[in-house]
Amino acid sequence: MATLNPTLPSKKRPVSSSSSDPFPAAKKHHPHAEDPVAALANARHEFGEHGGVNMSIEASATFTVMEPETMRRMFAGELGPDRDFFVYSRHFNPTVLGLGRLMAAMEGTEAAYCTASGMSAVSAVLFQLCSAGGHVVASRTLYGGTHTLLSNFLPRTCNITTSFVDIRDHDAVDWAMVRGRTNVLYFETMSNPTLTVANVPELCRMAHDKGITVVVDNTFSPMVVSPARLGADVVLHSMSKFISGGADLIAGAVCGPASLVNSMMDTHQGSLMLLGPTMNPKVASELAGRLPHLGLRMKEHSNRALVYATRMRKAGLKVIYPGLEDHPDHATLKSMAIKEYGYGGLLCVDMETEERANRLMNLLQNCSQFGLMAVSLGYYETLMSCSGSSTSSELSQEEKELAGISPGLVRMSIGFNGTLEQKWSQFEKALSRMQDVSKV
Ligand SMILES: Cc1ncc(COP(=O)(O)O)c(C=O)c1O
Repeated sequence: MATLNPTLPSKKRPVSSSSSDPFPAAKKHHPHAEDPVAALANARHEFGEHGGVNMSIEASATFTVMEPETMRRMFAGELGPDRDFFVYSRHFNPTVLGLGRLMAAMEGTEAAYCTASGMSAVSAVLFQLCSAGGHVVASRTLYGGTHTLLSNFLPRTCNITTSFVDIRDHDAVDWAMVRGRTNVLYFETMSNPTLTVANVPELCRMAHDKGITVVVDNTFSPMVVSPARLGADVVLHSMSKFISGGADLIAGAVCGPASLVNSMMDTHQGSLMLLGPTMNPKVASELAGRLPHLGLRMKEHSNRALVYATRMRKAGLKVIYPGLEDHPDHATLKSMAIKEYGYGGLLCVDMETEERANRLMNLLQNCSQFGLMAVSLGYYETLMSCSGSSTSSELSQEEKELAGISPGLVRMSIGFNGTLEQKWSQFEKALSRMQDVSKV
C-alpha cells in the first residue's frame, strides 16, 4: 500500500507556506540550532475543508475513490497520503497525519505519526526495530510501564531481551552495547522519577559507531530538549502529558525517519498497521490546537519549577531539580537545553519515608490546595505522587535502590495556575503545618 514520501507535494489541499512539502522539517540543513517553536511556525498550515483556519476532522474510517483504477493504484503503492489519497484510517488518516507533520516539525525529524497512547508508541517502535531474539540496551531509570515492557513482556512474548544500565556510566553503556547483538539503545531525555538527564549527543555518537539505532523518550522535556537535533534517530512522546496539557487525553507519537514511519505502516510487516493503536482524528484535532501554545506553557512550568526548587531548598528540604546547579546533570542539561524553555517542569522532594511523603502530600492537597495527589504530569495544576508506591511500583526493591528511588520521594509536576506567590504561600502553609505536627 502507498507510503509517505517526504518530498512529494500534496495534490489537493491548500497550504499557507510557499513549500507544499508534507514534511518541511526534512529540508532543514542545520536543524541542530533550530528552535522547536520556530520550526512549528514554519510547518505547513493545514486549513479546514471549507477554508477553516483549523484543519478539518476527517471522521471517516474508510475513503471512496472516483474510479476503480485509483483503488488498484493505491494498493500498488503508486498513490498515497502525500498526494491526499487515503484508504482506511487504521492506515493513514488526514487529521492524524496533519498532527504528525506538526510533531515532525517540532522534533526536527523527517516524519512522525501519532498513536493512541504513549505506551503504544513505545511498544510499536520496539516491535518494529527488534525481531524475535533481539537485544535492547536501556537506561535503568525509565517510566515504570516501559521498564516492565522491557523486563517482563518482551522477553516472555518474543525473546527480546534488555540490558539495563546506568545511562550516565558511558563505559557500562558501551560494554552492554558490545556484549549483546544490540538493535536499540533506549533512554529518556529526562527520566522518571529522579530526573536523571542523558547526554544525548555523546550516547548517540557511541551507538552510531556500532550501527545501533537510538530511541529517546522525550515526554518530560518537549521544547526544552530536541533529541533528534542532537543526533537521536527516533523520538517518542506520551502526548498525554505536557503536549496535551489538559490531563484529559491519552495519546502518543513516534517521530523519526520517513522510512521508519512507512515501515510501521506496512500492510505485511508494520507494527502500527498490524497491531492497530490508532489515534482518533478527534483527538488529533484537539492536540493540533494545543501545540501552538506548548512553548509558552513549558516556559511557565519551568520558570515556576526553578523558583519553587530554589525556595524549597532554602526552606531546608531535600530537592532534586536539574535546573539547580548542584544537580549532577545540570551541566549536561544546560549544554543541550534551549535556554528560553528552562529546565523542565518536574522536581522531586525527598521526604525520606513514605509516611512523611504522604503527610506532606495530604497537607498540600487537603489543607492548602497547592496541588493534587495524582500520577501523570504536564497539567496546569501541580500534580504530586510518591514514585516508589505509584509510577515506579513495578520495580523491585533492588531496582528502586539502583535507580535512586527513596521510599519518601515525592515527584511534583509543577503547574502554572494561580499566581506564583499565591501557590508558594500555599506550599509554605502546608510545610509549616507539617513542622508543627513534628514538634508535638
Ligand atoms: C516517560 C513516559 N513515557 C511513556 C509513558 C506512557 O504514556 P501513556 O500513558 O500516554 O501511554 C509515560 C506515562 O505514563 C511516561 O511518563
